[in-house]
Order: sequence, then structure tokens, then C-alpha cells
Amino acid sequence: MNPKIAVIGAGNVGATCALYLAQQELGDIVLTDIVEGVPQGKALDILQAAGPLGINVSIKGTNDYADIKGSDLVLVTAGLPRKPGMDRLDLLKMNADICGGIAKEIKTHAPDAIVIVVSNPIDVMVYHTFKITGFPSHRIIGQAGVLDSSRCAAFVAMELGCSVKDVNAMVLGGHGDTMVPLPRFTTVSGVPITDLIPAERIQAISDRTRQGGAEIVNLLKTGSAYYAPAASTVKMAASILKDSHHVLPCSAYLTGQYGLEDVYVGVPCSLGRKGIEKIISLDLSEEELKALQSSAAVYKSSLKDLGY
Ligand code: NAI
Ligand code: 2OP
Repeated sequence: MNPKIAVIGAGNVGATCALYLAQQELGDIVLTDIVEGVPQGKALDILQAAGPLGINVSIKGTNDYADIKGSDLVLVTAGLPRKPGMDRLDLLKMNADICGGIAKEIKTHAPDAIVIVVSNPIDVMVYHTFKITGFPSHRIIGQAGVLDSSRCAAFVAMELGCSVKDVNAMVLGGHGDTMVPLPRFTTVSGVPITDLIPAERIQAISDRTRQGGAEIVNLLKTGSAYYAPAASTVKMAASILKDSHHVLPCSAYLTGQYGLEDVYVGVPCSLGRKGIEKIISLDLSEEELKALQSSAAVYKSSLKDLGY
């Protein structure tokens, strides 16, 4: 039997996830949104792309959470962007209400699912989802580090004029200004970029990576990035569904690793059929560790705003 994959939120990120999942024939897809017609229309559109793409697609669009029943994997991409007059805390609370409601539906209809949360602010929304579902932490995972690392890899490839396929970037920490690009652990065919790129250019690449989301928002003017976010989410989904054990930076619940506890933040994880199989402890320098811990502190303080 094919795995069943629910995508919650049929907006830019959710619909693009559905398309990439379909293109890779990863399972039977259910696309869910609160807006009537949108998930149904986008699902039908993807179904009709199957012929030209030369793939077999099973996809259903729905407004009814009962349709996610028995899902093996749920991708949560529902959320609201910040509107004029709203501050960060208003957005935090509104998206927490949305993600909290979705978490309850997942708990009811898909109690055995692995959940990848994408909605922002991701490191807080994934913690909230963990608390509301009550699922074990290895089944509740946040996506951000794969995206931030893929942005860093793109900039390294642009700098060196090399194939992005040879670049393996590592960006840890929270998904925001405090994220922690790790040049020592970013390699081109196994060679650290610290041996290939001058320090000031590495600094520029790290700064651009930290601002990667904002750079695209400023260009688009309405909405935020979705091709790379969806590709990153589906990369995690594929490692889980195919039990590939890829090591990817994920927002994971920490219980003492890196000196951090009771917080979700980006760290390298091995992903397989059970979700997070292992959190990898890198031998970070004092400075790198301090940057990761400072990043986590920001999200700890946001959790307090939600009453945790
Ligand atoms: P979008 O506005 O295109 O789509 C959001 C969708 O969520 C809309 O279709 C809306 O109707 C739906 N929605 C709202 N409340 C819902 C509910 N209760 N149940 C089901 N659906 C609901 O936004 P986009 O661009 O798809 O982004 C989605 C979220 O992902 C945002 O929070 C965004 O900030 C975040 N994001 C996170 C990234 C990451 O790396 N973690 C990267 C890119 C986006
Ligand atoms: C991004 O980094 C908005 O989180 C989103 O593109």
C-alpha cells in the first residue's frame, strides 16, 4: 500500500509540496485547506499534470480533516503572513491558534503520523505542535535548516562557479536572523569552504544566507519564497518515507544536546521511517556553540509569549 501524505495548507508552499511529492510518486496525497475550492482546484490541476509529467498521481483536495485519517506523514504549511499594523507577537499568536487547531485534528485523525511543521515562526510552531499533539518528539519535526542550508549551498556554488550538486552546506540554529551557518562543516566535494573561499567572502555568504528569506520577500513584494521551501520539505519527506537515513538539519526537540533543553532548534538529524532516528552532536567550537545557544535562547523566550 502507498504511504498516505496529508498536506495542510494549499497555499504557495503547500501546493508546491503537493506537486513535488506527486512528481516523486512518494504516496497518496491529501491536500487540505480552510478555503473552499482551493485545495480541490489545485489537486485537480496537479492530477491533470500527471500525463505530461509522465507520472502516476493519487491526490485529493478537501476542506474536511476527516480525509487525513490514517496519514503516515503530515506536512503543516498553513499560516498567515504578517499584515500592516500587526506586530510579531500578534502573528505568533494567530499562527499558534492555526497550528494548535491543526495539531488537534492530526491527533484525532492521524495519531500515528510523523509531522513536519513548516509554518512560521517555525521553531515555535513545531514546539506548540509537539505539546498539543502529545506525540513523541521524534515524530514532530520542523523544516528550516534544509532550506537555509540549500540557500547557503546556492551562494557557495555561485561564488566558486562549481556545481551545486558538489556543495554540502550546514546551517543550524533557529530560522531567523540568529541562524548559524557553519563554514567549517560546509564542503565542496569534501573540502571545507574555509580552504576555498576568503574569510570576508564567507562572511558575506553567511550574511546573505541569514537574509535569504527577506531577500525573496523584498523581490516578490507579495508573499514569501515557496519553491525552495517546498523542495526542502519534500527532501525531508522523502528521507522519511524511503527510510533513507539522510542527515539533514532539522528543528528538533533537544533534551540536553548542545547544552540545550526543552526547546526546538535546528540541529543535524538522521531521518528515516520512524522520523528522527538520531540527533547528531557535532564537535562545535566554543564560538559556534555559543551562537547556537544564543539562537535557541531567542525561541525559548518566544515560547514564554505563548505561555510555555
Ligand atoms: P500562503 O498564504 O500562500 O498559504 C497559506 C495557506 O494556509 C492558505 O491557503 C490559507 O488558506 C491556509 N490556511 C490558513 N489557516 C488554515 C487552517 N486553519 N487550516 C488549513 N489551512 C489554513 O502562505 P505560504 O507561502 O504557503 O506559507 C505558509 C507558511 O509557511 C507561512 O507561515 C510561511 O511563513 C511559512 N514558511 C516557512 C518556511 C520554512 O522554511 N519553515 C519557508 C516558507 C514559508
Ligand atoms: C523563508 O525563509 C519566509 O521562512 C520563509 O523564505
